[in-house]
Amino acid sequence: MFSVKTKIIFGTTEEEISNLNLKGNGLLCTGRHHDFKFADLNLYHLKISPEPGVDDIYKYFDKIRDINFDYVLAIGGGSVLDTAKILSVMTNDTKVENLLGTDKIKGRTKTLIAVPTTHGSGSEVTKYAVLKFQNLKQTVVSDFIVPDYALIDENLAMNLPKDLTLYTSIDAFCHNIEAYLSKIPEPLTDLNCENGMKFFFDGIDEAMENKISGRRKMLICSVLGGIAITNLRTNLIHALSHVIGAEKNVSHGLANALFLRGYLKFYKDDEKFKNLGKILNVDIIKRIGEIYEKYNAKRLGDFVAQSEIRHIAESTYENKRLLSVMKREISKEDIEKIIEEAM
Ligand SMILES: [Fe+2]
Repeated sequence: MFSVKTKIIFGTTEEEISNLNLKGNGLLCTGRHHDFKFADLNLYHLKISPEPGVDDIYKYFDKIRDINFDYVLAIGGGSVLDTAKILSVMTNDTKVENLLGTDKIKGRTKTLIAVPTTHGSGSEVTKYAVLKFQNLKQTVVSDFIVPDYALIDENLAMNLPKDLTLYTSIDAFCHNIEAYLSKIPEPLTDLNCENGMKFFFDGIDEAMENKISGRRKMLICSVLGGIAITNLRTNLIHALSHVIGAEKNVSHGLANALFLRGYLKFYKDDEKFKNLGKILNVDIIKRIGEIYEKYNAKRLGDFVAQSEIRHIAESTYENKRLLSVMKREISKEDIEKIIEEAM
């Protein structure tokens, strides 16, 4: 099955939010450095810090528990959107830690609008929110946190720093390639992912040059990646990045970027992967290598010692939810090899 539950709108933020005719009280969630003014809306503004944990969600909820919201408007990167998604389903009795896992949420009454300012997480269309808990990055998976509306405004992504541009774009690419190499064959997801990756290769240089055309292409890649992983799911790259993201505080996009090349090499003899190169008309492994070199992508050795490789492989191997959907079965030794290559 292939489905898209979110209504996706392209346009300028103020105009399109006004067109939604939102009524009543709203909760506005943004990053720490963003300020938006919506003259007609009655908003309580919450500023969200990056990489939220379960404790942070309680702190945010304490500030808003007495306000009766009709809708939640989230404008920001993946952390802001994920936090807003959780806040949109919370009641006074909610234990946030009990929401971790699959289908633990009972429902949502508030309208949820997500406006991404980075082009990586795809959170504006996904059923996921990632929270730190007990030194791990854990995922809330529920149809009830899929936003009602995603508003795509490339102007908001202008002037993103180069590092953030590179790594969030690679995160979006990873969503597309991981869903594409899932063991569940889905023709429409395949089409979706092929196009997502095409937008990545077409637009990454333009995005790095801060051209608006590049920002738009990366946002489309990100939306398509989000749709892909909500229909299927991520696998090895994200399983690895959840481990080093939590243990080494490496940001999500960068953590994925560290393992992408090893993952691609793991699939280099796979027929579907070889055919993808023909469809996209690019030598994928070579081109990703060139992009990394051109933009000085970091390596795992910048964050992790050789002696930690086995532990990372073992922790990653525990993530059966993600590893069980890999097209090619993977052993702990294979994972160690991929980590070794990323050093
Ligand atoms: Fe991701």
